[in-house]
Amino acid sequence: MSDRAADLVAALAGLKAEAEQQIRAATDGEALQRLKTDYLGRKAGRVSVILRELPSLEADARRTVGQAANEAKAAIEQRLAEAEAALAAAAAPPAGDLTMPSRPAWRGALHPVTLVGTEICEIFHELGFTRAVGPEAETERNNFTALNFPPGHPALDMQPTFYLGTGTLLRSHTSPVQIRVMEAYQPPIRVTIPGRCYRRDPFDASHAPVFTQVEGLCVDEGITFVDLKAAITFFLRRFFAAGVKVRFRPSFFPFTEPSAEVDVECQLCHGTGCPACKGTGWMEILGCGMVDPNVFENVGIDPERYTGWAFGMGLDRAAMLRYRIPDIRMLFEADMRFHRQFVDSA
Ligand code: PHE
Repeated sequence: MSDRAADLVAALAGLKAEAEQQIRAATDGEALQRLKTDYLGRKAGRVSVILRELPSLEADARRTVGQAANEAKAAIEQRLAEAEAALAAAAAPPAGDLTMPSRPAWRGALHPVTLVGTEICEIFHELGFTRAVGPEAETERNNFTALNFPPGHPALDMQPTFYLGTGTLLRSHTSPVQIRVMEAYQPPIRVTIPGRCYRRDPFDASHAPVFTQVEGLCVDEGITFVDLKAAITFFLRRFFAAGVKVRFRPSFFPFTEPSAEVDVECQLCHGTGCPACKGTGWMEILGCGMVDPNVFENVGIDPERYTGWAFGMGLDRAAMLRYRIPDIRMLFEADMRFHRQFVDSA
């Protein structure tokens, strides 16, 4: 073999070793691509440069060098292919353990406010009440005026109510649905009305700017305060406990006359006094009263012929008492550790 041929064979061996080392060091596909062009590129590749010398060699030397070049090329190609495959395998997600048992199906739970709302409507259903609903965006007329709020009433103020525009607002209680029901149906009327309400309240342990109420309305001939007291007492004894103490205190609402606020004995201390009831032994649970004749006038029901009673109750408060929830914000936080506790409560 000529000296020149021997040099070329040695050079090829060197190239191959160098290429292998660089391929091992490459960490991404781009680097591999660059090495491929660098060593195997048809025009300027380092192997091609050597091959270009073949025509100037003797036949024997040409064969030897040509063979060495082909071997070097094949070896480099194979290393490159192996390195590419290794990179692809590292990037692919692991196949996972297909024999692993599947996760048990998750069971959903109803929200505690939904639970108490449904339960309250069901109790009144036994007394012949059906359910009605109304929109959360209301007119000022249904939310206030038709309910006999006088023009200067503080609740009409921007402070406690979310106004959407002139004459429209987010309802501040479920009572506007009383108006809708009485304008759509003639007595006898017996409905419960669950729904969300909005007030500009702080968001703390016992207040939220959005809360849920259930309203009750009963209108017929000959309805008196005795019916109101009996129905509310029946309901509270069914909802809390058969022997629960209940008291009615005189109160005021623009749309009922007379009006009352109803307390039940504190569900935490059972009347002995604790921080939750501020030592009184009682918890305020709902407002109620006899439908004001002015409201009947506003909806076109004859107040000489019909009388009725209504109540409104905060469901958040009821849920907190029923399930001993210490902070109203827990009802809004969507913490699964909280909600999973209600899985079997429906
Ligand atoms: N709407 C009153 C409130 O939100 C509650 C209520 C309803 C009182 C019906 C009397 C009759 O405070």
